[in-house]
Amino acid sequence: MTWARDDYTVTDDRDRLDLEAVHAYLTRSYWSTGVPLEVVRRAAAESVTFGLYLEGEQVGYARVVTDRATFAYLCDVYVLEEHRGRGLGRWLVECVMDHPGLQGLRRWLLTTQDAHRFYERLGFDRTTFPERFMTIDRPGLYLDEPSARASNRLAVTGATSRSTQTHTSR
Ligand SMILES: CC(C)(COP(=O)(O)OP(=O)(O)OC[C@H]1O[C@@H](n2cnc3c(N)ncnc32)[C@H](O)[C@@H]1OP(=O)(O)O)[C@@H](O)C(=O)NCCC(=O)NCCS
Repeated sequence: MTWARDDYTVTDDRDRLDLEAVHAYLTRSYWSTGVPLEVVRRAAAESVTFGLYLEGEQVGYARVVTDRATFAYLCDVYVLEEHRGRGLGRWLVECVMDHPGLQGLRRWLLTTQDAHRFYERLGFDRTTFPERFMTIDRPGLYLDEPSARASNRLAVTGATSRSTQTHTSR
């Protein structure tokens, strides 16, 4: 599916994705600093992806992790700095939510550090029941720093021992 506006295009066509360009942004983003290209490729392959293009150049991206029936997690949304402030971010998310494969879902979810107003105007609310949500977060996972590696090892070790216990108690 493709949407057009002025000289810009949004499409879910995977073949048009420039994943090296997407990686170049995501690896410097606040939420996935240092993410490897291979992880960006794997995530895109298993998601519904949306590229924002100006004459073939990838200038934005959005990714939806979804079962296409009940739930969607919107993530990795960005517009390159030089294209911001022209309504493109809003249009990109509108295209995502207009996608025929993402209709009738019971819940959309996203996390954001500072773009709450941006998403509120697209229909998202701050969650009414934050106490119901639980997460495992590994914020330093992609950072190449000894302290980040150590804390990630701890997190993974903890998860492994829990799943081992679950497995052996069956
Ligand atoms: C958030 C982002 C995608 C917005 O893209 P954009 O093309 O600049 O946004 P738009 O021009 O469509 O803005 C639409 C409206 O939202 C407002 N807005 C844009 N970014 C905002 C933000 N971070 N917080 C609050 N409002 C914001 C704009 O002022 C505009 O308001 P207006 O209609 O009154 O003029 C872009 O700033 C970006 O890539 N940021 C860095 C990555 C990021 O934070 N992504 C979200 C992570 S979940």
